[in-house]
Amino acid sequence: MEKGIAIDINRHSDPHHYSHNDSHHHSTMTATMTATTATPTATRIGTTIGAVVEGVDFDNLTPEVAEHLNELVLEHAVLIFEGVHASEDQQERFARCFGEPYIYPLTRYANPDGDIWTEFIDTPDSPPEADVWHTDLTWVPDQPKFGILSAEEVPETGGDTMWADLYAAYDSLSPVMQEICENLNVMHQIGRNVLDPVERNAGFAAAAFLRDNYPEIKHPLVRTHPETGRKVLLLAGGFMKCVEGMHPEESDLVLKYLRNHINDPNFHFGWRWKKGDLGIWDERCTNHRGLANHYPQYRKMRRCTVRGSKQFSGI
Ligand code: SIN
Repeated sequence: MEKGIAIDINRHSDPHHYSHNDSHHHSTMTATMTATTATPTATRIGTTIGAVVEGVDFDNLTPEVAEHLNELVLEHAVLIFEGVHASEDQQERFARCFGEPYIYPLTRYANPDGDIWTEFIDTPDSPPEADVWHTDLTWVPDQPKFGILSAEEVPETGGDTMWADLYAAYDSLSPVMQEICENLNVMHQIGRNVLDPVERNAGFAAAAFLRDNYPEIKHPLVRTHPETGRKVLLLAGGFMKCVEGMHPEESDLVLKYLRNHINDPNFHFGWRWKKGDLGIWDERCTNHRGLANHYPQYRKMRRCTVRGSKQFSGI
């Protein structure tokens, strides 16, 4: 999400759900070491996704290290690097290990040569706006593949980022429901819940630019991840407009079920940031949200994303 854009989807999540995966207690129950021939090494923290990685020299990201990190992202979906205090330059070079950085539509509108950064700065006058499940961004034809977030300033309490595992969201369905979902396509759109704040914060012309240039786009509800070959249930919060071919009341019923399904804590991973931590996640098999429970404390995060492939988006 871009700061200033609120996505209006459900907020039914139990605030305690994320704490069972308290990321700073490397539980011997869930921790597994990933065997690597050399550093970096990953320690699984979450139950189905999420690992802490050690042994990365951010000033020496060789092609071999980049390839290994790419494999770790595919394996764990979310990787955390503690206390790296990456500069913009280091974060950008890290992003470039995995592809071209993505420039957000609204940034491109404001400046075609705009930069790759999105800052999330929460203050008493600017409340958090990313506390809704979403993935970046299913309404563009070239959905980013990885998100990379640096914790610049953190609150004393709260402000965790949560991720939901879309592989597990699919795997946990009954075979009958899986088959139903595999036959459905969902229309994704930018929607009023994005356009309204854009109008407020950036003006009518900016909203019109997004509306005119990003028409709704169709995605299968069950998608095969292009690199892992695993099936994901493609949930995308408020970006999901309707199920293709259904009457509105049928579509509403299905979307309500899906928006509730993602709240299952069995496939969540949460991270309580410390200043200088860096996280990377696979946008194609996760949803995320930045909790708002630190408000009105100050929190500042810096994000960039890595461009994905056009073929993977839409059908
Ligand atoms: C985002 O939506 O990428 C921001 C998440 C966060 O601030 O924790």
